[in-house]
Amino acid sequence: MSIPKDKIEEVRERASIVQVVSEYLPLTKRGHNHVGLCPFHSEKTPSFTVSEEKKIFYCFGCNATGNVITFIMKKEGLEFPEAVRTLARRYGITINEFKKEVPDEREAIYGALKAAAEYFMLELRTPNGAQSREYLKGRGVTGELAKQFSMGFAPNKWDGLTNHLKKRGVSTEAAHRAGLIVKRDNSPGYYDRFRGRVIFPITDMRGRIIGFGGRTLDDKIQPKYLNSPESPVFKKGETLFGLSQSKEQIQKEGSVIVVEGYFDLVALHKHGFRNSVATMGTALTPEHIKVLKGYASTIYALFDSDEAGKSAAIRGLSLFLNEDVSCRAVLLDKGKDPDEFLKLSGPEALMEAVAEAPTLMEFYLRNLRDKLNISAPEGKKKYFGDALSYLSRIKDIAERGHYVSIVASTLGIGIDAVYDALKRPGADKNLKVNIAKEPVASRPEAMLLKVLIRHPDLYTPDADTAIEAFGDAALKKAGTAICGFLRDGKAISAADLLEGAEDAESRGRLANLLFREDDGYVEEPERMLRDSIKSVLNRGRVKQSTQEFTRESIKLLEQMGKSEVALEIRKRLEIGPQGKRH
Ligand code: CTP
Ligand code: MN
Repeated sequence: MSIPKDKIEEVRERASIVQVVSEYLPLTKRGHNHVGLCPFHSEKTPSFTVSEEKKIFYCFGCNATGNVITFIMKKEGLEFPEAVRTLARRYGITINEFKKEVPDEREAIYGALKAAAEYFMLELRTPNGAQSREYLKGRGVTGELAKQFSMGFAPNKWDGLTNHLKKRGVSTEAAHRAGLIVKRDNSPGYYDRFRGRVIFPITDMRGRIIGFGGRTLDDKIQPKYLNSPESPVFKKGETLFGLSQSKEQIQKEGSVIVVEGYFDLVALHKHGFRNSVATMGTALTPEHIKVLKGYASTIYALFDSDEAGKSAAIRGLSLFLNEDVSCRAVLLDKGKDPDEFLKLSGPEALMEAVAEAPTLMEFYLRNLRDKLNISAPEGKKKYFGDALSYLSRIKDIAERGHYVSIVASTLGIGIDAVYDALKRPGADKNLKVNIAKEPVASRPEAMLLKVLIRHPDLYTPDADTAIEAFGDAALKKAGTAICGFLRDGKAISAADLLEGAEDAESRGRLANLLFREDDGYVEEPERMLRDSIKSVLNRGRVKQSTQEFTRESIKLLEQMGKSEVALEIRKRLEIGPQGKRH
């Protein structure tokens, strides 16, 4: 069933975003907006801003943004239509849903995955599954654990699942889109993707199956693990294995343990570490962090003690530097991975390792020190340069002080020397981390859009021309959309704009633009509009025309035989003989 478009709009119009958000966190009025502590990242001073008038929210800390519907989706873990229905009920809006002509593709995929999971679970219990049961037993997986994770077995057949799905009325297309069956190369038809493997169903936050991971029973068979391919419902970089089983415990403890392997996760649960998730072999992504931040303020990353583990930690570091979440690196010295560590050393040892875990920054600094020969001046210099680039990104003064003193004592220099170096420009040169900041060049562009949104009656075709010349792609897209509305004489809302944004980044940039420095009032809007149009249009032209003018003059001077003067001007302006800048 689907919800008519106008009903969705009605819900967005009638639901008070301030009222709805207030039910989740206290808001206080500040100017035209309401502010509170962001529910999507942990913070101590409020940067979560809600605008009743614009009907959107935006967090200056983590860039989370959206409207009243997406807020409910995020907070309640609902899909879009369910969020709309919830709000509609609350505001007494009746929705007459209609049946879609085509069945929802996602629903069909979920159905196929569910049917497959049932098949795998049954197979684990048949005589066929004896070998897989032995395997699991050998790895310490009890029947109870297997049940808790809905584990299963894919028998070593080409058409076991294919036939099962057919019998269950699952369409070939859905089974294929779900990644369960694979098209044959040289003949028509499909075959089972998972064969002769122990199966881990992968679920989303709500426990719905979105994919599978399968492990061979025999280490000689490659690949050791086979996962479902990405599908409309399965995005590996956003998914954390075990989250639906662990999220309550994570929330309770305020911390989460992150590992990389399926069996590592199962072993953690077995030994009582029920606040844990697995990334399924990949490094932590920003999407993972965003999800985890909603539940925990500390992330413990468990790393294999080998080099691969260390470099994963270092790659991960830059991600955490801009997050309001504390990340600690737990290094396991005995055994290679968490599963083996628990077998060899037991849960108390792991508890100890977790308690002693250095922050990712301490870990990084330690690693850097060990890697370089810091008894030599070259090593000291390199250490200092690298360390500074990280220190410069730590915003909290107390936290920064902690690491400054580590660096100072490592090098045997004074703390003030480190602070002095941090003040020098370029201290952050080695680190390429994106920070949300409006580039200087796009300021008049942002102003132009702001005025147009505030004062649609001032729209002139000049604005179109200026927007055409925008350098900032996201703003240009937004501007084009705004002008499209205005030309048709329609009003445009901030919520509409956000909805039209293509990806999270442009959405964040736009929301930032709509809120930042905007107190709901533009002084002298006519003049601001005129000035911003002029400044956008002139930006390119001025540069071009001065250069052209100079080139012309140089040519003239040369023709007049004053080549020395011409040469001097060329040198000063760095203009080559062809008139090009070099
Ligand atoms: N992985 C994968 N595909 C592979 C190898 C690994 O998806 N070909 C993922 C799995 O989620 C796996 C994790 O990466 O659990 C860690 O891989 P690895 O350390 O190689 O394996 P272990 O988890 O230690 O596997 P096991 O203990 O079963 O040998
Ligand atoms: Mn392992």
